[in-house]
Formats: sequence, C-alpha cells, structure tokens
Amino acid sequence: QERSFIMVKPEGVQRALVGEVIKRFEQRGFKLVGLKVLVPSKDIANVHYGEHEGKPFFPKLVGHITSGAVVAMVWEGKDIVKTGRAMIGATNPLASAPGTIRGDFAIDLGRNIVHGSDSVDSAQREIALWFSPDELAEYDPTVTPWIYE
Ligand code: GTP
Ligand code: MG
Repeated sequence: QERSFIMVKPEGVQRALVGEVIKRFEQRGFKLVGLKVLVPSKDIANVHYGEHEGKPFFPKLVGHITSGAVVAMVWEGKDIVKTGRAMIGATNPLASAPGTIRGDFAIDLGRNIVHGSDSVDSAQREIALWFSPDELAEYDPTVTPWIYE
C-alpha cells in the first residue's frame, strides 16, 4: 500500500489541531502506521525542506519548523499521497477550498498547519528521514474489507 508523510506543524500543535488532523485521515479510512511528537532539529529541517534551499523564505521556513513541537505521522492507503494533499488543501490557505484542513483552519502561507508529501518519491524520502523502520507498525485493521472492495 502507498504511504505518505503527514506532519502537523508547530502552529497546528499550538492551536490544538492535532486531533482534528488525525480524525480526518482516520475517518476517511486511512491507516496510521507511524506517529511521534518531537521538536525538529535544524539538520532534519534543512533536509526535509531541501528543495526550497536558496529561496528567500527558506531561513524563515526552517526557523519556524524548528521553533516548537510537531507531530510526525505516516499514513497508508490507496492513493494516500494525492488524496492527502487534496484533504490538506492548497499551499496558500486563502486559496484552499473550505472542507480542506488549510481551508478550514488557516489564513497565512507560513502558518498552514500541516505538511503532506507531494509525490510518492518525496513520501519515501521523507518517511526514511523522519522514521526508522522499527517505528512503523505492521498490522491489519479488521475494517479493511469495509473500506476497500
Ligand atoms: P508542505 O506540505 O508544507 O511542503 O507545503 P506545500 O507542499 O503545499 O508547499 P511547498 O512545499 O511549496 O512549501 C513548503 C512550505 O513553505 C509551505 O507549506 C509554506 O509554509 C512555506 N512556503 C512556501 N512558499 C512560501 C512563500 O512564498 N513564502 C513563505 N513565507 N512561505 C512559503
Ligand atoms: Mg511541499
């Protein structure tokens, strides 16, 4: 099954939206296989946002993500990468549709609550960066046949 790296950013933790984010993925039928709370190091933040290195907002982005606790998660399910991005909404919350996480809970680009991998390749890279294999759980939810035909 496909996996995605989903992270509640420091503003999402501070605004008590962790449960809300988890609830949406859980209720959709996706499977939680990894979860932890941590204050990211500069090193992990630099690698995670490596694609943005050199852009004017990069130092602010890394400064923000390392400024507090985040909740890092791995979710699994059919087309989770693309569907997760759709559930999260557009990068700029003012352009995010209502019903998406950012469209319901955010206003500013730099405070958009949640990160989601943008491709299957990025997901694999990010999961390997944030989690060791023994931190990912192998299990079979009994509801699977009620979610997938
Ligand atoms: P993530 O899921 O967080 O990666 O968001 P995204 O994939 O929708 O956007 P992208 O990867 O392009 O940018 C990563 C993060 O950097 C965004 O979520 C924003 O918080 C921030 N960001 C992106 N572009 C800008 C910008 O032009 N200005 C500022 N201040 N922040 C930006
Ligand atoms: Mg991105």
